[in-house]
Amino acid sequence: MDNLDQIVSEAQAAFAAISDPDALEQAKARFLGKSGQITELLKGLGKLPPEEKKTAGAAINVAKAAVEAALNARREAIRKAALEARLAEEALDVTLPGRSEARGGLHPVTRTLERIESLFASIGFEVADGPEIEEDFFNFTALNTPEDHPARSMHDTFYLQNPDGSLADKVLLRTHTSPIQARYMQAHVARYGQLEKMPEIRIIAPGRVYRVDSDATHSPMFHQVEGLWVGEGVSFADLKGVIADFLKSFFETDDLTVRFRPSFFPFTEPSAEIDVAFMSGALKGRWLEIAGCGMVHPNVLKIAGIDPEKYTGFAFGFGPDRLTMLRYGVNDLRLFFEGDLRFLRQFA
Ligand code: FA5
Ligand code: MG
Repeated sequence: MDNLDQIVSEAQAAFAAISDPDALEQAKARFLGKSGQITELLKGLGKLPPEEKKTAGAAINVAKAAVEAALNARREAIRKAALEARLAEEALDVTLPGRSEARGGLHPVTRTLERIESLFASIGFEVADGPEIEEDFFNFTALNTPEDHPARSMHDTFYLQNPDGSLADKVLLRTHTSPIQARYMQAHVARYGQLEKMPEIRIIAPGRVYRVDSDATHSPMFHQVEGLWVGEGVSFADLKGVIADFLKSFFETDDLTVRFRPSFFPFTEPSAEIDVAFMSGALKGRWLEIAGCGMVHPNVLKIAGIDPEKYTGFAFGFGPDRLTMLRYGVNDLRLFFEGDLRFLRQFA
């Protein structure tokens, strides 16, 4: 039965050389298929004399089992190799740094604006709004600054051009948020003017404003927050109290002094600039101008249709960019508007 041993080792060698599952099944046919070598031997058993049949049959079956065992071992080995290859290919390197989701953050000036809004909301101020492209009338005339008034040159104004290059008629980028005062008072009078007692006006109006201006504390686009309180018996003492309380809340310290320095605005009388000085910290002892303010000029009330004999009011215009500089200790205003993420991320 040398022949049988040879078939078995031939099968083992053939299977071992194969690593493709289809090729393996074809090789199997050569030995165990319908006309495979083992199958042919089994068929031949019938021709043997009965006394040899038994031993020959047993020997062939042993060989057949050996071929089948080799086949199954090879099938299993191929299956395992394929699985390992797939695992290797799809492996996750859990030691690689993860890809985190990029998170945005609020701009530091936006944080200041939201903080101002919520502090004033807590003492009953509503938020009002107005257009950035403004009419000359609201930016100047309604604020007691007639044509040719020297105060107009206090603000270096960006005027708008028509498509043909000519100057647009009385349209400009607002130079301050004060036109919102004028618009709001007009609308308020239209709504409540006929009432015996006009409801109080108490608004703040944050927004972007524009001036031909650029240095470390002046930017051509900056922000202001206007405040206006008009009612019966509103006084300069109320203005001082509201502002001092606001600043202490805003900076979260009692350790600051507020100074009202006499000044001039055509739309307030008397007028003042508001300066603050901190009693401690890096900015100790330096006075910094953060706002203009005053009692609303009687002419401004009159132009809006409010009786200045009956009602008085105060107004102020803060520079929230400057408040942000002070709060975070930033020394150049222009950093806020350059969009450099290395700078902005520090506040996120
Ligand atoms: C005004 O614009 C007045 N409308 C303020 C006002 C409102 C007075 C209501 C009275 C009643 P002024 O030009 O001073 O005033 O500007 C007000 C504040 O805006 C300044 O105190 C300053 O904090 C800020 N500011 C002015 N110019 C710039 C600029 N170019 N860049 C950054 N902040 C500025
Ligand atoms: Mg000023």
